[in-house]
Amino acid sequence: MTSVLLSVTDLCAGYGPIRALRGLTFQVAERETVAIVGANGAGKTTLMRALSGIIPLSDGEASFLGRNIRGTSSHHLARAGMLHVPEGRGTLQTMSVEDNLRLAWEIRPTAVTFGEALEKAYGRFPRLRERRAQAAGNLSGGEQQMLAVARALVNRPRLLLLDEPSMGLSPRMTGEVFLSLAELRDDGVAILLVEQNVRRALQLAQRALVLSHGVFAASGPSDELSRDPAIVASYLGQSHDAPPDNKRHIANDPRR
Ligand SMILES: Nc1ncnc2c1ncn2[C@@H]1O[C@H](COP(=O)(O)OP(=O)(O)OP(=O)(O)O)[C@@H](O)[C@H]1O
Ligand SMILES: [Mg+2]
Repeated sequence: MTSVLLSVTDLCAGYGPIRALRGLTFQVAERETVAIVGANGAGKTTLMRALSGIIPLSDGEASFLGRNIRGTSSHHLARAGMLHVPEGRGTLQTMSVEDNLRLAWEIRPTAVTFGEALEKAYGRFPRLRERRAQAAGNLSGGEQQMLAVARALVNRPRLLLLDEPSMGLSPRMTGEVFLSLAELRDDGVAILLVEQNVRRALQLAQRALVLSHGVFAASGPSDELSRDPAIVASYLGQSHDAPPDNKRHIANDPRR
């Protein structure tokens, strides 16, 4: 039987009077990849922040490995095996690339040596090897995003919370990032993924939850959702590395 890693019940969170999340209930099982998709402002990042202790829950419960994590800091969660890679990087800007990776490795001791972990990360992202002595803050946006994902590769968490890992990346580099995520998934790392590239997210994840204005509007296996006409119309029409849809382009082109 697969065990539940993350369990969330009636979770509510927000910012002062803004109730961004209004009663979310879901679970992520061991070795499972779950995508959270939804429009801009739906509450995806807020959910990641609430789960990883960056903002408080205003109501509801969340537990990781059976332990209540309400009020637990991101650092303690990372030590317990739940690593959050936030939207827009989350790297330590004044530290070198390699020190960022070392710190991620040190958070959670495993049988893999730092050297081995580093080789794997540099193998996937050769640009980071070239830049290994450079301060993370001086990397380009895309390189910082690669570093954020590489930190997850060396950390090897039980559960990885990823917010928009393809943000700022070229289609080719997005492909590299998703290959890394598929490797992590196939190695048994559970992943909760927020991703604007819904096509890619549904290819990676077994299951998806559609978030709309702070509540789940739909959920199901990824292959079913990717055939659902409403999901296709709302989220799968304009994926940036999808083949061009000429009809849509012409219909939306203001010059015509
Ligand atoms: N720091 C904040 N203070 C006040 N309101 C916020 C704050 N951050 C987000 N919000 C609001 O909370 C709601 C959810 O925002 P959130 O960032 O979670 O959306 P999202 O689904 O991640 O969107 P995107 O796809 O654009 O990243 C939005 O209405 C947003 O304006
Ligand atoms: Mg967001």
